[in-house]
Amino acid sequence: MSDPGVTPARTTTRVLGPHEHRAALNLFRDSHHQPPVTDTDWLVLRKTLEPGTVRGEFSDGRLLGMQQTMSGDLIVPGGARVPSAMCARLAVRTGHTRRGVGTRLMKAALRAAQAPLMTVRASEGGIYGRFGFAVGTRARDLVIDRHRARLESHVPDCRHAYVSRSEDRADLIPLLYEEVRGRAGAVDRPDWYESLYSHDTAASGLSSKVIVHQGPGGEDGFARYTVDRVVARDAGARLVLQVDDMHYSSPEAWTGLWRALLNVELVDEIHVLMRPPDEPVEWLFTDPRVCRTRAVHDETWLRLTDVEAALRARRFEGDGSVVIGVEDALLPANSGCYRVSGDGVGRTGAAAHVSGSVAAWSAAYLGTVRPSALAATGALRVGDTRALRTADRLFSVRSEPWSGSFL
Ligand SMILES: CC(C)(COP(=O)(O)OP(=O)(O)OC[C@H]1O[C@@H](n2cnc3c(N)ncnc32)[C@H](O)[C@@H]1OP(=O)(O)O)[C@@H](O)C(=O)NCCC(=O)NCCS
Repeated sequence: MSDPGVTPARTTTRVLGPHEHRAALNLFRDSHHQPPVTDTDWLVLRKTLEPGTVRGEFSDGRLLGMQQTMSGDLIVPGGARVPSAMCARLAVRTGHTRRGVGTRLMKAALRAAQAPLMTVRASEGGIYGRFGFAVGTRARDLVIDRHRARLESHVPDCRHAYVSRSEDRADLIPLLYEEVRGRAGAVDRPDWYESLYSHDTAASGLSSKVIVHQGPGGEDGFARYTVDRVVARDAGARLVLQVDDMHYSSPEAWTGLWRALLNVELVDEIHVLMRPPDEPVEWLFTDPRVCRTRAVHDETWLRLTDVEAALRARRFEGDGSVVIGVEDALLPANSGCYRVSGDGVGRTGAAAHVSGSVAAWSAAYLGTVRPSALAATGALRVGDTRALRTADRLFSVRSEPWSGSFL
């Protein structure tokens, strides 16, 4: 019951005008323990808040939370580029968390979704499952001991790679990325991606260089890196080359880039961030232990926002069919049964062989985890064990999905 002496606050959720974006960004930064944006940084960061993409919740005229949704696409198994809404910068004003603001903003974003898929990068793993998201792609961070690293004699001897300053190839990188991205999970990068990358690199006091590989048909891969002098307690100073953006379209480009990275002078360690978990880096070296996995972490969190359109967009492998049951409390139009086969997907009145929440099917969608693995955890319920094997085959993928971008 409300207190008769207190007037309840009036709460509204609406799309912000561009004049409100800086306040929203500062709210976001404060929620992440960062200072307000400076005038210089704002010149770059304002471009990342495209008009019409930012939603805010107000209480009695005061901004209490923000959330951003941008349009993009994501490659799904089979290679189709499927429209995808990129959810970003969900934040609630410090002191006003855990009162439902974030939930209302996310529900508004989901209801407004036009694309079959929605993605988000999660600051914490406990936030987005309740909104139907699940880990869709993962990435591996590696450390290479450069002094001990010797390439195996069977590694192709392609040496057609050259190094430039990133600024000098600023126009090329977005074009090359767009040309070579092909793995399920790869997203298109907004126009401001490059300027944000350069801004963040400069803010950390580093400059970046790029190695571009020249294949028989033209440039076919790049690796962007910075080099930093790192002083560790008890270990002295080391020069660390950090690769944070590497994409290519052929094994020759990949090995060519690796040869060039290993040839950068003065470097003690190579740290390679955000690599596909199944990229066979260890197999390049005479001693596989020169390559150490520092972390495997979740990358893109995915949510099917239009289940039928999303299922129709991806390829399913092999013969047979399975009826899957989907439960979606936040977008109830998705709830129901779908017959899935290599020949197509459609709604059906038949009973489900395997069922679960939209989050569970979002986890299985790109192929990061098999339906049977989800069933083992209880996330999927199985009415027919043979159908579960069929589901595993249908949802299987040839390489692990991966994004490799920071969005
Ligand atoms: C994360 C955040 C946006 C959630 O918004 P909020 O208004 O606090 O969340 P709500 O009150 O709507 O809470 C909804 C549920 O999520 C839970 N929750 C909120 N934040 C959580 C977190 N960081 N981890 C796990 N659960 C969380 C709440 O306990 C609540 O659970 P319940 O439904 O079981 O009661 C907000 O806490 C925030 O701004 N945090 C700091 C910045 C941040 O991490 N942003 C996310 C960027 S990816």
